[in-house]
Amino acid sequence: MLSSFTASLFTGVFLARSLLSCQAAPTEFSGVGAVAANLTYNATGDFDPTKTPANYTPAGGIVPMEPNPTYHPLSDFDYQSLSLALYHEYIEYDLFNYGLTKFSDAEFEEAGITADYRHLIRFMAQQEIGHIELISNMLGGDAPKACQYKYDFESKLTQWTESGVYGFLNHLDSRAAANLLLQSITTEARQEMSLRQLQGLFPYPVWFETGLPQSFAWTLVSPYIVTCPPTNKKLVWQNFPALHVVSPPVATNFTNGSYPQYPNGTYMYPAAVSTNRTLPMSLPGQIVEFAWEAPGKKIGPNSSYTTATSAKGAPQFAAWISQLNVTYTPLNLTGNNTGATYQPSVHLYNDSTQQVINGSSFVVLTDVALPLTPFNLSAINEHIVAGPAVYSSG
Ligand SMILES: *[C@@H]1O[C@H](CO)[C@@H](O)[C@H](O)[C@H]1NC(C)=O
Ligand SMILES: *[C@@H]1O[C@H](CO)[C@@H](O)[C@H](O)[C@H]1NC(C)=O
Ligand SMILES: *[C@@H]1O[C@H](CO)[C@@H](O)[C@H](O)[C@H]1NC(C)=O
Ligand SMILES: *[C@@H]1O[C@H](CO)[C@@H](O)[C@H](O)[C@H]1NC(C)=O
Ligand SMILES: *[C@@H]1O[C@H](CO)[C@@H](O)[C@H](O)[C@H]1NC(C)=O
Ligand SMILES: *[C@@H]1O[C@H](CO)[C@@H](O)[C@H](O)[C@H]1NC(C)=O
Ligand SMILES: *[C@@H]1O[C@H](CO)[C@@H](O)[C@H](O)[C@H]1NC(C)=O
Ligand SMILES: *[C@@H]1O[C@H](CO)[C@@H](O)[C@H](O)[C@H]1NC(C)=O
Ligand SMILES: *[C@@H]1O[C@H](CO)[C@@H](O)[C@H](O)[C@H]1NC(C)=O
Ligand SMILES: *[C@@H]1O[C@H](CO)[C@@H](O)[C@H](O)[C@H]1NC(C)=O
Ligand SMILES: *[C@@H]1O[C@H](CO)[C@@H](O)[C@H](O)[C@H]1NC(C)=O
Ligand SMILES: *[C@@H]1O[C@H](CO)[C@@H](O)[C@H](O)[C@H]1NC(C)=O
Repeated sequence: MLSSFTASLFTGVFLARSLLSCQAAPTEFSGVGAVAANLTYNATGDFDPTKTPANYTPAGGIVPMEPNPTYHPLSDFDYQSLSLALYHEYIEYDLFNYGLTKFSDAEFEEAGITADYRHLIRFMAQQEIGHIELISNMLGGDAPKACQYKYDFESKLTQWTESGVYGFLNHLDSRAAANLLLQSITTEARQEMSLRQLQGLFPYPVWFETGLPQSFAWTLVSPYIVTCPPTNKKLVWQNFPALHVVSPPVATNFTNGSYPQYPNGTYMYPAAVSTNRTLPMSLPGQIVEFAWEAPGKKIGPNSSYTTATSAKGAPQFAAWISQLNVTYTPLNLTGNNTGATYQPSVHLYNDSTQQVINGSSFVVLTDVALPLTPFNLSAINEHIVAGPAVYSSG
């Protein structure tokens, strides 16, 4: 079934209200002005009182000297990243509306989702209108328009949006645009938490939210985009071959992310501010089996994208991307496009109680085990055979 709530709202209309283009009054600063960053800065806590860019402002930083900040993309990188975020905002708006119409009030009530909570979901949809308008304004007249979608999944969509943006936010050339995007993505983070609560899940099972490269986010979202208007320009991001978690299976009591029921139909975990689930979704040390697709599949809007890989040969590792870490586990090939590994047991810090893999993490299969950290994670793209798959744990 095709879904296009967004299209009905935005067909043909470009929302070009220039909320942020007003010229600010020139501001007087009584300091030495901008001071460049220092790559050999000595982090002792002492500061140089003769080098303050403005009153009570320490040297360095991107201090607010610019009277008319540029809330626009400053490079292809910025444009493509903001467009990707806009594609996500559109589908979220659509999905919230779709979700509200898919279930009856009685079905919602059974899962503990009261009329008040349904209003919250409706409000989330309205927030997306604001986010769509914001990003469209920053991109200008050629901003991508809303598409038509299909859903056949239990959605982790808000989580990808959030993680997808965290991955590129600090790589943007336009600091001003990044500022506004941050202010929208923190709202999405709140939505994500509420959606977990509405599913009777623990609200935030991690210490750090994961950041992802843009091509991960595009790979995850594009299968659900059916057609886009002809005016939408093609995005640059890669579509990796799909990766499926075959085992643990999705439909057991242990892995049903949302709404497991007792045999009499009563929900085990109705909506709640916080829920301790006694049945874990998966555990460290358990075997995880994967199946993946070969590259070359047509996918995404109008099937106009093709899955591709730059990896050299068969996958050797599963890379578990979660919180601040990339954890590699050896992959045993079990067939042409199937393999198995163990869910790792690693703690965030050596002395911490927090498992790195808890809640939703992202798994890709790679040809090598490249040591990476959050700010250079995109370097993994060249080595991905398939993925990401969203893996539920804890
Ligand atoms: C950078 O920091 C180092 C260590 O404190 C200092 O020696 C150097 O003068 C600083 N450079 C500049 C340009 O401020
Ligand atoms: C950094 O600060 C420490 C402590 O004040 C000092 O001993 C050291 O010489 C400083 N290093 C540089 C490069 O300024
Ligand atoms: C995608 O398909 C739709 C529906 O067939 C069509 O209206 C639209 O022009 C196509 N878009 C592109 C970019 O080809
Ligand atoms: C799920 O739990 C119910 C109730 O405890 C049980 O009857 C059923 O067999 C379980 N199903 C699976 C697939 O584990
Ligand atoms: C888990 O989800 C599947 C698919 O939606 C459903 O058929 C099954 O009844 C669920 N299991 C429980 C225990 O609710
Ligand atoms: C359904 O079964 C659960 C678990 O046995 C029980 O707690 C609950 O009260 C039952 N609900 C109804 C409506 O009978
Ligand atoms: C919730 O889970 C924690 C950690 O496993 C446990 O310490 C606590 O006792 C549980 N609380 C309840 C009410 O089950
Ligand atoms: C996870 O990342 C943190 C921060 O970079 C690092 O300190 C820690 O050692 C990593 N943990 C593991 C198990 O690699
Ligand atoms: C693996 O691929 C080869 C070549 O395409 C094919 O002949 C073989 O049947 C496949 N094996 C399995 C287990 O699918
Ligand atoms: C992979 O193969 C090695 C060597 O045979 C074996 O020790 C390991 O248990 C296998 N891992 C999985 C997940 O099956
Ligand atoms: C954490 O533990 C690993 C393995 O024991 C060790 O190599 C590493 O140095 C430790 N890191 C810290 C920060 O203690
Ligand atoms: C994992 O998440 C659950 C909630 O889903 C939480 O209760 C638990 O403490 C977390 N485990 C670790 C080891 O951090």
